[in-house]
Amino acid sequence: MLSVARELSPRRSTSTAEDVDGLVAEQLAHFSIDSKTEGGQALARLAGHLYRANVDLHQLWDVTVRELRGLDRRDRIAWFNAKKFLCFQLAKLLDTLQNPFRFSYQALVESQSNRLAKGPYPLFDNVAAIFSSTPVIARTATYLYACTEWIDDAFQGREPLLEVYSRLLNPTSITLANHIVDLECGPLAGEYMAWNFNSGMAAIDAALSHLVGYRDIILSSRNIYGGAFQLLHDWFRKPSNLDVAVEFFDGYTVEAFQVALADVRARHDNRLKDGRQVYVYLESPCNPHGYVLDVPGICQAAHAQKLTVLLDSTVGTPFLSQPLRRMSPAERPDFVIHSYTKDITGSGTTTAGVVIARNERMFIPKGESVTTTDLAGRAVTWRWNETLFWNVFYVKGAFLDADKAFEVINGSRTLELRMLRKCISTTVLAQALARHPQIHVKCNALETDDNAEMRRKILRLELPAPLFTVDFERVGFDRATFTRFFDCLEPAFGHQVSLGQSNTVVLCPALTSHSELGPDELRAAGIEPTTIRISLGDEDPRQLLVHFQRTAELVLDPLCPGFSNGFLKPTALDELYRKSYMDIHQRWLDALPNTDELLK
Ligand SMILES: Cc1ncc(COP(=O)(O)O)c(C=O)c1O
Repeated sequence: MLSVARELSPRRSTSTAEDVDGLVAEQLAHFSIDSKTEGGQALARLAGHLYRANVDLHQLWDVTVRELRGLDRRDRIAWFNAKKFLCFQLAKLLDTLQNPFRFSYQALVESQSNRLAKGPYPLFDNVAAIFSSTPVIARTATYLYACTEWIDDAFQGREPLLEVYSRLLNPTSITLANHIVDLECGPLAGEYMAWNFNSGMAAIDAALSHLVGYRDIILSSRNIYGGAFQLLHDWFRKPSNLDVAVEFFDGYTVEAFQVALADVRARHDNRLKDGRQVYVYLESPCNPHGYVLDVPGICQAAHAQKLTVLLDSTVGTPFLSQPLRRMSPAERPDFVIHSYTKDITGSGTTTAGVVIARNERMFIPKGESVTTTDLAGRAVTWRWNETLFWNVFYVKGAFLDADKAFEVINGSRTLELRMLRKCISTTVLAQALARHPQIHVKCNALETDDNAEMRRKILRLELPAPLFTVDFERVGFDRATFTRFFDCLEPAFGHQVSLGQSNTVVLCPALTSHSELGPDELRAAGIEPTTIRISLGDEDPRQLLVHFQRTAELVLDPLCPGFSNGFLKPTALDELYRKSYMDIHQRWLDALPNTDELLK
C-alpha cells in the first residue's frame, strides 16, 4: 500500500517514509513549507487525502480488471457513470486549486514583458479542456513536468502522465492510437498497442526497420503498394544498406505461400545457416486489384515455422477485415499496418499511418522485461529494447503530430457509412463493366473471379474491397487512344493518385503507383499497359458508369465502331443497382445482434 501511495510523492524514488504521514512530511520539506503554519496544515491534510486516494484508485482499478467482464449491463452502466462522476470530482479539485495557484503566480510574474514572454501559464485554463467533447489538439512541442524524480521516470517510460516531448508522445496522437486499437481489436484491445506515424510509408518503414536486419530475407506477397515495393527493393535490398534478400510469392493461398517459402529457404540456405531470418510481408486486400489473401492461413503456416508476419491492412480498413480479432492467436499477423491517409480519414486531408502489435512487442519500460508464452506454450522473454517504441519510434522521429491525429479521428467517425456505400458501388460498377464483352475486369466482387471464394471466406459480410482494375487488352487500343480515353474521365473519375477518398479516383498503375516495377514484375502483378485502377468513392455508381459510357462514345467508338453498345442498358443498370443495394443492406442487417443480445 505504501509503495502505491509513494507514486504521488516528489521523492517517489528516494523516500524513506514509513507511512502516509511520513510521505506528507517529506513533501512539505521538499518544497520548504512550514507544517506548523495554517497553510502548511491545510496542505498536509490535502496531501494525506491524495496519497490515500491513490491507494483507493488502484484498488478500484484492480477490481475493475477482475470483475468488469462478469457484470451484467445494468451494473456496467452504474459503474461507468460512477467513474465518470469521479473524473469530474477530481477535475473540480484541480480547478479549485487553480485559484490559490494563480494568485501565487501573479505574485511572482509581475512585469508586462515577463508575462508576455512566458504567455499564459498552461495549467490554469487547460483543466476544463479535458471536458472538450472532441479530443483536445495538444499543439505543443513540450510539456510541464512535476519534479525531477517524476521526469526521470518519464524518460524511462515509467510515468505515462508526463509526455516529455511531442516527438515521443502527444495526447492527441495517443487518443488516436487507443482508438485504432479499439476499432481493430475489439474485445482483444487490452492485448494490443499502436504507435502512429506521419505517413503510411513511415509506418511500414518503422515496422520493417524494427525487425529486419543485415542480410535477412523478406518474403512478400506480389501485389503490394508501389511505394512499399520501392522501399523493399531500393532500400532494404541495397548491398550498401541492409543487403536484404527480397522475394515475392504469387497467388493468395496457404499452398502458394508454402511453395514459395520452401523455395526461398532452399535458395537462401547460406544466409539461413548464418542465422539470418525470414520475415513475411503481406498486403491484403492488395493493390491494385483489391484481391484478398488467406491471411489467417498464411499466418498460421508462417508461425508454424516461427516466422514473423507483417500485414498492410490499409485497403480493408477495420470495417472489412479484422485480422487481429481471430480467436486463434496463430492466425493473427504479428504487426498490422494502416495508412490512415486512405479510407480511415476518408477525405484526403492528411497523410498518416499506424503500426499495431501486441503490448510486449510495442512498449516495455526501460530496463524491464516481460515474459509471455509463445504459440507453442513455451515461455518467451521480451526485453524493453526489443520493443518497437524504443528500437524505432523513440529514436527516429517519424511521429504523428496532434493536428493530423485530430484529422484522422474526425474522419474515422463516418468510416462505416462510407465503406458500406463503397462496397455497394464496387459491386455495381464491377458487375456492370464486366458485362461489356471487350472490357476485362479484375475484381473479386464478380462471382466468376478467381479471388471471389477468398473474398467470401475472409472479408466481413463477404463484401469486396472498394478497389479493382479494368483493362482494354481484349480490343488492343493503341497507347494514344487509350490515353485520350483516360484523360477524358474527369470529373466523374478523379485524376488523383491516392485511393480511399470520398470521390472516385483512377490511375494507370503501370504509369504511376506501380511504375517502379519492371516489365516482368508488372506482368507478374497482372498489370497491363491499359490497366486502370478504380478506387471507389461515395458517389452514385450509375453516374460513374454513365460518364464512362459517354466518354467511350466520344473517344473509342470512332476507332472501334459499336464499342459503347456493349454497355448495360439503363433499365438493367437501375435494376443491378437496386438489387445490390438491397442485398448488401440485407446482409448488413442480418449480421447485427438482436435486441436480446444487446440487453446482455
Ligand atoms: C496499401 C497502401 N499501403 C500504404 C500506403 C502508403 O501510405 P501513405 O501514402 O500514407 O504513406 C499506400 C499509399 O498509397 C497504400 O495504398
